Amino acid sequence: MTSSRIAEFYKIDLEERRARLMEAAQLAPEDLTPFTTGGLAPEAADHMIENVVGLYSLPLGIALNFQVNGRDVLVPMAIEEPSVVAGASFMAKLARAGGGFQATTTEPHMIGQLQVLDLANVHVAQLSLLEHKEELLAEADSVDPVLKKLGGGARNLEVRVISESPIGPFLVVHLIYDVRDAMGANAVNTACERLAHHIEIITGGRVHLRILSNLADHRLAQARCTIPVSELAFGDFSGEKVRDGIIEAWAFAAADPYRAATHNKGIMNGVDAVVVATGNDWRAIEAGAHAYAARSGRYTSLSTWGKDADGNLVGTLEMPMAVGIVGGATKVHPAAQAAVRLMGVKTASELAEIIVSAGLAQNMAALRALATEGIQRGHMSLHARQVAIAAGATGELIEKVAAQMVTEKVVRIDRAEELVKEYTGKQVNK
Ligand code: MEV
Repeated sequence: MTSSRIAEFYKIDLEERRARLMEAAQLAPEDLTPFTTGGLAPEAADHMIENVVGLYSLPLGIALNFQVNGRDVLVPMAIEEPSVVAGASFMAKLARAGGGFQATTTEPHMIGQLQVLDLANVHVAQLSLLEHKEELLAEADSVDPVLKKLGGGARNLEVRVISESPIGPFLVVHLIYDVRDAMGANAVNTACERLAHHIEIITGGRVHLRILSNLADHRLAQARCTIPVSELAFGDFSGEKVRDGIIEAWAFAAADPYRAATHNKGIMNGVDAVVVATGNDWRAIEAGAHAYAARSGRYTSLSTWGKDADGNLVGTLEMPMAVGIVGGATKVHPAAQAAVRLMGVKTASELAEIIVSAGLAQNMAALRALATEGIQRGHMSLHARQVAIAAGATGELIEKVAAQMVTEKVVRIDRAEELVKEYTGKQVNK
């Protein structure tokens, strides 16, 4: 059984951290090798995209303390932004005191869209398609025998009339497709392309686009956590004050799209970091998240925060989560494979449940900071390290320069350069 609690993880050096991680997750050294090397060989990358000249790395951190549906999980996060991993770990610790995260997913149903143009009467064509629904579904269902064997395949066909558009009315066919543990883009796109001809014959129209929708609102993941109000107290802030501050901060995002965009960006800090670490398509997740946040016609918060009858803080997050564990980069990138192994997930749904939990934890970290001491304090020391590195500091000098800038409350490149010069007696190359 994995334990996601590793004492003083942030204080020990990289090698020791890997050893402790191996122990906590009961993994073999080779399971973690891809994290040390970055995982991907340039030759492998050359098969993934075009015109490859090399690789591009990101830091890979481990968020601790997570408990999702009663199971401890060590959460790999690939992200360049300081504070995200620490924030998620800390909030997961608070959530743990209230039983951790309870997460669920709907069935892994993706939507494929076919645009049907040049119709004499969109309503007549809509009825014809619905009359032929069973045979269209059977045809789509036969496209991917492997997926079908695993329990996936065509599930439903919906026909929407778009009455007004710059080119006049047309039809949109939605093919609902169960993609099981895949992200599903290939399966859905292939099925849509296969149906196009049959749909043209039935409607007498012309099928134009055939492509999945990233607004995957039939493939949702939900997370929920309850934080005992006593756990929220720190410094001069009572638990009640922190709780109410978080709820007020959420209300701002619920009511105002300008704030909701930033609020949801904080959620995506947690979500994307795990999506990237597992080789999934984060642009697809981003597109789905923001479209879902605007589904009522007004862009709003993806999460909710309130209190229960006992006064504890309760958070929820619901969003589309089209991630897979069997295909694409997840399959070919050794670091993505290592990330999946580290979490011990066996299905795409389990992965989705961890990802929304990380999103909710990250959202709470941001709101707690914003509602109390402000975001800069926590950010400053980590930001200072990056500024120190940018100014040419290396090794122990990084901490020294960063600490001095934080003490002075001046975290700027010019000051960092002065300090590097002062401590080393050397001129900094610009
Ligand atoms: C920064 O990356 C994310 C935050 O702006 C999120 C928020 O404001 O809720 C701190």
